[in-house]
Amino acid sequence: MKRVVLALCAAVCAAASMPAAAQFQKPEDAIKYRKAAFTLMGTHMGRLGAMAQGKAPFDAKAAEYNATVLSAVYHLPYAAFGDDTKTGDTRAKPEVWTKAADFKKKADDMRVAVDKLVTASKAGTLDALKVAVGDTGKTCKACHDDYRKE
Ligand code: HEC
Repeated sequence: MKRVVLALCAAVCAAASMPAAAQFQKPEDAIKYRKAAFTLMGTHMGRLGAMAQGKAPFDAKAAEYNATVLSAVYHLPYAAFGDDTKTGDTRAKPEVWTKAADFKKKADDMRVAVDKLVTASKAGTLDALKVAVGDTGKTCKACHDDYRKE
């Protein structure tokens, strides 16, 4: 029994020191993970968008909270696009892998926009929020247009 536990620990501990992309047991797990992370981004971006478009009342604290959550999770999906995750229950296009440098650039553009959104949300005004939400939304769309199937 003790040996089994040790062997298990060795496997788990080795996994923990590997790069993020290698941490998933199965390709399906990685796909689920990245979709879950994008779902979180979509939820919090959606709340910001509703405020920016006047569909929800402007609430400076909520805006800052949503922007901060976005910036806390925006790294997550990109660790889950390993080579073994090209097929399955996914809308990712093959170009994610064949044009990897551009895909990464679009992810970086989004992070820069979200960082500005966090700053804008701290200003506490609807006008600042509107501009930053619009700019961030463009970076989401730019990547989806090229790398996500409808
Ligand atoms: C660098 C590319 C890229 C950027 C930037 C990007 N996405 Fe995506 N997004 C994808 C890809 C690829 C998928 C498809 C993932 C899959 O099906 O495996 C996706 C899927 C999604 C989904 C669907 C998740 C699901 O459950 O299927 C949502 C929601 C989403 N993204 C929201 C956002 C939001 C909001 C932003 C901007 C804040 C954003 N994305 C920025 C590439 C990107």
